[in-house]
Amino acid sequence: MSRSPVDVRSFFPQGDAVAAAEALSLSQMARGMQGSKILQIAYDVQARIKEGHDVADFTVGDFARSEFRVPEALVEHTSAALRDGHTNYPPADGVPELRRAIVAQAERELGLKYPLESVVVGSGARPLLYGAYRCLVDAGEKVVYPAPSWNNKNFCHQVGAVSAVVPTTPGSNFMPDVQALEAALPGARLLVLCSPGNPTGTMIREAQMREIGEYIVADNAGRKARGERLLYLVYDQVYRNLTFGDLQHVTPVGVVPEMAEYTIFVDAISKCFAATGLRVGWMYGPPHIAKQIKALMTHVGAWAPRPEQLATARLLEDEPAMKTYLAHHLGGIHARLDALAAGLRELQAEGLPVQCIDPEGAIYLSVKFDLEGKGGLKDEDAVRLHLLEKAGVAVVPFSAFGDNKNKGWWRFSVGAVSVAQIQACLPRLREAIRQVM
Ligand SMILES: Cc1ncc(COP(=O)(O)O)c(C=O)c1O
Repeated sequence: MSRSPVDVRSFFPQGDAVAAAEALSLSQMARGMQGSKILQIAYDVQARIKEGHDVADFTVGDFARSEFRVPEALVEHTSAALRDGHTNYPPADGVPELRRAIVAQAERELGLKYPLESVVVGSGARPLLYGAYRCLVDAGEKVVYPAPSWNNKNFCHQVGAVSAVVPTTPGSNFMPDVQALEAALPGARLLVLCSPGNPTGTMIREAQMREIGEYIVADNAGRKARGERLLYLVYDQVYRNLTFGDLQHVTPVGVVPEMAEYTIFVDAISKCFAATGLRVGWMYGPPHIAKQIKALMTHVGAWAPRPEQLATARLLEDEPAMKTYLAHHLGGIHARLDALAAGLRELQAEGLPVQCIDPEGAIYLSVKFDLEGKGGLKDEDAVRLHLLEKAGVAVVPFSAFGDNKNKGWWRFSVGAVSVAQIQACLPRLREAIRQVM
């Protein structure tokens, strides 16, 4: 072609014209949508690291290649499937091999027997969470979730739901108080819970789960009698294999079997197999709901790639390989969380305003720095920047998880740091805190 290319940039709004163009072009939903504050902080931190600063990056809920790798079986089976030409569209609800493996795993590990029609596979947990919101909740209906929690505010925005946020306290490890939840549930269409939790690193106990499940079952009996729309529970268990000590992961259906009628489970390989970039997640729940989430998937096409689906099926079926991997993966995460918690407790014992919650699961530690208002640190962002610039410690505030009540609390995520990096940052942290005391 000899003609010079059309420079399309001249057709796009620039500078001050962008805001006016947005009003004329974007939907109301898109105009109100906020990007992830967590990622915004994380990108700033990565830019700082690129400039050569020594930073222990506790910001993203992800894993660094240098620290954690996916199971070798996933790599091998994905490559083999690619080489064998498994490169076409997968079925909208996932390849049968994977759906069967998911059903078998739920029976083996959770004691729950689901039919194949209950399962829908997607590209990670996100599209299935979105699908559950989209298929259960109409605009203007109420969705209840605790704060802090991950991304619910944004999903609510996308479907036009009304958020009913239930505050939590460090006294209950940031898990919701059952009475507070129950006070918010009348009239709600959806409750969203996650255990082990992001950002908290803590877990729901069986007694709490039983009370919540029994409440939902009784509430729905009343709704059915009155001909009202029902209350559902989305139970996000993407961290379920990452638990420490004697604590057991509990499920609503395991504790209250009648909850099967009202529960949508969401799961993924992202965290338990350090496979955030491979994009395989799934849901299971009542088949009539799964059917519509599948229908949504046919339109948005948020499928997991076929080679990864086939590889995940083979991994889930290989119990010994999974156990070996998980023991190693969990050991690495636990060692980091323990080193961090032990170091922070030393600072607390020295009289510094530091506090943390014992790690129970996931890849997170909840930490309090009571520094706002000290040494000229006027707000949370000033504290964040002080820790980043003076201690080389990058963390995310609970406010990025919809929590404006638990002031001074931060999420430390340990997937991208080594134990040595943790140990090296603790003296810097001590110094930075002392500077403002
Ligand atoms: C609680 C929780 N659920 C779901 C997700 C998203 O998982 P995926 O990457 O599989 O979409 C995350 C990611 O951070 C998470 O923390």
